[in-house]
Amino acid sequence: MKVLFVGDVVSTSGRKACQFFIPKIKENYKVDVVIVNGENSAGGFGVSKKTYTELIDSGADIITTGNHVWDNREILELINEYDNIVVPYNLFPWVPGRKLCINEEYNLAVLNLQGKTFMDTPVSPLVSIKNLLNEGFFERYENIIVDLHAETTAEKAFIAYLLDGKVSAVIGTHTHVQTNDAKILPNGTFFITDVGMCGSYYSIIGFKINKILEKFETGLSNKFEPEREKPYIFNAVLLELENGRTKNFIVFNEICE
Ligand SMILES: [Fe+2]
Ligand SMILES: [Fe+2]
Repeated sequence: MKVLFVGDVVSTSGRKACQFFIPKIKENYKVDVVIVNGENSAGGFGVSKKTYTELIDSGADIITTGNHVWDNREILELINEYDNIVVPYNLFPWVPGRKLCINEEYNLAVLNLQGKTFMDTPVSPLVSIKNLLNEGFFERYENIIVDLHAETTAEKAFIAYLLDGKVSAVIGTHTHVQTNDAKILPNGTFFITDVGMCGSYYSIIGFKINKILEKFETGLSNKFEPEREKPYIFNAVLLELENGRTKNFIVFNEICE
């Protein structure tokens, strides 16, 4: 089967990049399932009804999130209404939302794990992984994709190596800059430290450059504003899975107007 995973979509610019590229890639490569990280799709902060609908209309089948999951309160209605939005697995167990998204047709499970280093994450991802191992979770599904939403390269790599041979892919998100280290690990798990974002090409992680410069220069706190100018960047990976492991992959780092 073929899975397209699209990195953090930031605001209108990111959604436009998705509208442009996802349908083309889906058709050209006969993609079966499209997973999109939507945590910044609503003006940079969270997922709204409008941005959820736009991403689905662009071809997304499953939406993953991250630390910005609750930034837009409309997600509380969306998670009740739809079964294809995944919230981080290692939040407190009592918070709402689906911690796992299953596609029965492809025996596919999608998991969103959040890092602990430099992040306000209630449960260590390591504790969650140990619990999942004890429950026999990794034997239950043929194809498992992990959206690893974390800050540091080392934390992402250690989790990827820990899961090598247990899942189909560990795909880094959150830092918004694509890393040049995509590989298939020794036991067949695909790994990239960060798949990168979708958003304005001339921006700082999808946000207006002058606002971030001002913050660094003056130390005054400014609310970051998403950049909406063209051109747009589209970052994604296409995985070809066989027997639950990655056989081939293509990394996309594309620009459109
Ligand atoms: Fe993000
Ligand atoms: Fe994030």
